[in-house]
Amino acid sequence: MNYDDKIKNFVDEKNRDYDLFLFELRKFAGENNIPIVSNEVAGFLSLILDLKKPKKILELGCAVGYSSILMSRFLDKNGIIFSIDISEKMIELAKKNFDLAKITCVELIKGDIKNVLPGLILNGQKFDFIFMDCAKGQYVNILPFCLDLLNLNGIILADDIFQNGNILKKRLEVPRRQRTIYTRMNNFINSIFENKNLESKIFNIGDGVIVSKKIL
Ligand SMILES: C[S@@+](CC[C@H](N)C(=O)[O-])C[C@H]1O[C@@H](n2cnc3c(N)ncnc32)[C@H](O)[C@@H]1O
Repeated sequence: MNYDDKIKNFVDEKNRDYDLFLFELRKFAGENNIPIVSNEVAGFLSLILDLKKPKKILELGCAVGYSSILMSRFLDKNGIIFSIDISEKMIELAKKNFDLAKITCVELIKGDIKNVLPGLILNGQKFDFIFMDCAKGQYVNILPFCLDLLNLNGIILADDIFQNGNILKKRLEVPRRQRTIYTRMNNFINSIFENKNLESKIFNIGDGVIVSKKIL
């Protein structure tokens, strides 16, 4: 095992779930090839939420509900999470897991994020924290909606932005089938850093994370 792998395992072990329910849910997701937030990003997410204590969270990509359950622990009193997923199967699994974990503060929305977000804007919804964890090729398209939905001083955390290191390659070095997502992710990173309404920082955590605060 090389140094990088040893460090990765060490970090993973230190950030492991101490909560038995989340530990079992992570195991279930792993056994069923359902991607969920890494232990490292989960630790970082928890830290930010603990400092922020949001009242309203918007989650883009719920899957089995792992990150919703994690985030629910840091909500302010009477807080709520809106969590969107396109997959009927994921919505059913998340529902079951919220019941088992006795979580009542998550409102699940089944649908394609790009169709759901305009509706939330029309309804006048505003959020203190947005966790972007859906199809990575969508990030650049949904960013303007997220900005509309975010309160001043609100935070966006976007996960998996390095695309396993592809992001640093030249376009022609990236396998052909991954080039669209490569271009879109680069556009997303540029737009989020160029946006004058946001103050953004990038972190080498998990497969890359951007944290942006709405300052204007
Ligand atoms: C990485 S998983 C989310 C993991 C979850 N946040 C966690 O850490 O527990 C991504 C999820 O996004 C959903 N998804 C992908 N594209 C979507 C879209 N356009 N609209 C809604 N959901 C989408 C997928 O069905 C999948 O369940």
